[in-house]
Amino acid sequence: MATNCFISSINNIRQNQYYYSPWASVSLLFSNNDVQSRAMLKKKSPLRLLRCLLENEVMRTATHKSNGFSKISTSNPMITVNVDLGPRSYPVYIGSGLLDQPGLLLSRHVGGKQALIVTNNKIAPLFLDKVVNALKQEISVHTLILPDGEQFKNMESVMKVFDAAIEARMDRRCTFVAVGGGVVGDICGYAAASYLRGVNYIHIPTTFMSQVDSSVGGKTGVNHRVGKNLIGAIHQPKCVVVDTDTLNYLPNRELVSGLAEAIKCGMVRDGEYFEWIENNLEALLARDPKAIAYVIKRSCEIKAEIAIEASCGYGNWLHGEAVAVGMVMAAEMSYRLGWIDGSIVNRLKNILRRAKLPITPPPTMTVEMFKSGMAVDKKVADGLLRFVLLKGPLGSCVFTGSFEQKALDDTLLAFTNS
Ligand SMILES: NC(=O)c1ccc[n+]([C@@H]2O[C@H](COP(=O)([O-])OP(=O)(O)OC[C@H]3O[C@@H](n4cnc5c(N)ncnc54)[C@H](O)[C@@H]3O)[C@@H](O)[C@H]2O)c1
Repeated sequence: MATNCFISSINNIRQNQYYYSPWASVSLLFSNNDVQSRAMLKKKSPLRLLRCLLENEVMRTATHKSNGFSKISTSNPMITVNVDLGPRSYPVYIGSGLLDQPGLLLSRHVGGKQALIVTNNKIAPLFLDKVVNALKQEISVHTLILPDGEQFKNMESVMKVFDAAIEARMDRRCTFVAVGGGVVGDICGYAAASYLRGVNYIHIPTTFMSQVDSSVGGKTGVNHRVGKNLIGAIHQPKCVVVDTDTLNYLPNRELVSGLAEAIKCGMVRDGEYFEWIENNLEALLARDPKAIAYVIKRSCEIKAEIAIEASCGYGNWLHGEAVAVGMVMAAEMSYRLGWIDGSIVNRLKNILRRAKLPITPPPTMTVEMFKSGMAVDKKVADGLLRFVLLKGPLGSCVFTGSFEQKALDDTLLAFTNS
C-alpha cells in the first residue's frame, strides 16, 4: 500500500523449467509440417528459427485482457505477463532456468547491433557471463560493472553508463540491459531514458523485490541527497526476463523484503491474493518455486494494472521493510478514520510478523522527521499531502488528500516517541 509518504519518510531519514530445447523445437516444427517454418529453416540460421518458434509459442498463449493489462498464461512452465500499454506494451517472462538460454528471449527484443549490459560487482560473478554469451553471438556487447549499494544510485553512476555508451559509440538503436535488483534497474533504466533522448531498455531483475515490483511500471531514476528517487523518468522496458533461479543466491532478508511488496499488492488491490499469501507463506519462505513464480506473476499483474507508486529504500532498511511499516501505519490511520475494520489491521500485522518483517518504525523516528520526509514526497501536489489508504473490505484502497488531519497526527504520535 502506498502509504508512500510514511515509507519515504522512514527511508529518507534512515538513511516445469522452460528449456526450449532446440531438438524439441525442430521436432515440433517437422511434426507440424509447417511449410512456412520449413522455408525459414532454409533461409535463416537455426538460432533465428528457434526464436521464431519461441515467439509463436508465446503468441499462442494469449488469453484475455483486463484493466490495462493482458494476462498471457502460460506455456507451462514459463509464464508471460503482457503489460499492455499500446505501442509501449512489453512482456514479462517468468520462469525457472530462463537465464540458461537468455538469447532465445532477449534477442527478440534487442534493437540495433550493440548492447550495454549494466550490473554491479556482487551480481556480475553470478550472472553476467550467461547474459554476455547469449548476446555476443549476434551483436556487439559492452559491459559496465558498478559498485553495489543504494548509495551508488546517483547521477555519478548514471554518468558512468553514459561514458561507457559514448566510448563504445553506441547509437540510438542500441539497447541497455540491466542485470540486477532495483538499484541497478533504476540507474540503467534512467540512463536508457536519457541517452540520445532515449534508447531501448531491458531488465533482468535478480532480487525478489525487483521481480515483484520495480521491473514493472517503467519508473526509473536515482536519488538526490535530499531524498529518494527525486530524479527520474518513466521509460518502459522492451521486455523483462525473470529467472526465478536467481533467487537461489539471494539472502533471506532480501527475499522477505520483496515479500512485503507482494503483501502490499494484495492489501490494496486483491483480497483473495492476500489470503493466498497468508495460506502459502511457509511455502514462500521456503522458496517453493511454484509459489514464488505465482507471487511474481500476480504482483506484476497488479503492478501493471494500477501502477502503484513505489518508494524508497535508503540507508539501513531495505525497501520492503519500509513498505511493511508504511502499510501498518496507513492501515492504522485508515482504522482511525473509521474506514476499515480493526481486524484488517490485525491480519496485516500478523502476516508481517510471521514473515519476520518490521511493523514499527525505528525508535529514533520523530513526528518532525516523518513530516519533513512527507514534505519532499512525490505525492505532495499543490501543497496537499495525499495518501493511499484502505477503505472498505480487504483489498480496497483510495488515493486521497481528503482526510481528518487528526487521524494522521494521532497515527504519527502512536508510532513515535515524540
Ligand atoms: N522503479 C521502481 O518501480 C521501483 C519500485 C520499488 C523499488 N525501487 C527501487 O529499488 C531499490 C531496491 O531494490 P532491491 O530491493 O532489488 O535492492 P538492490 O538492487 O540493492 O539489491 C539488494 C542486494 O542484493 C544483491 N543482489 C541482487 N541480486 C542478487 C542475487 N540474485 N543473489 C544475491 N544477491 C543479489 C544486490 O547486489 C544488493 O546487494 C530501491 O532503490 C528502490 O527505490 C524501484
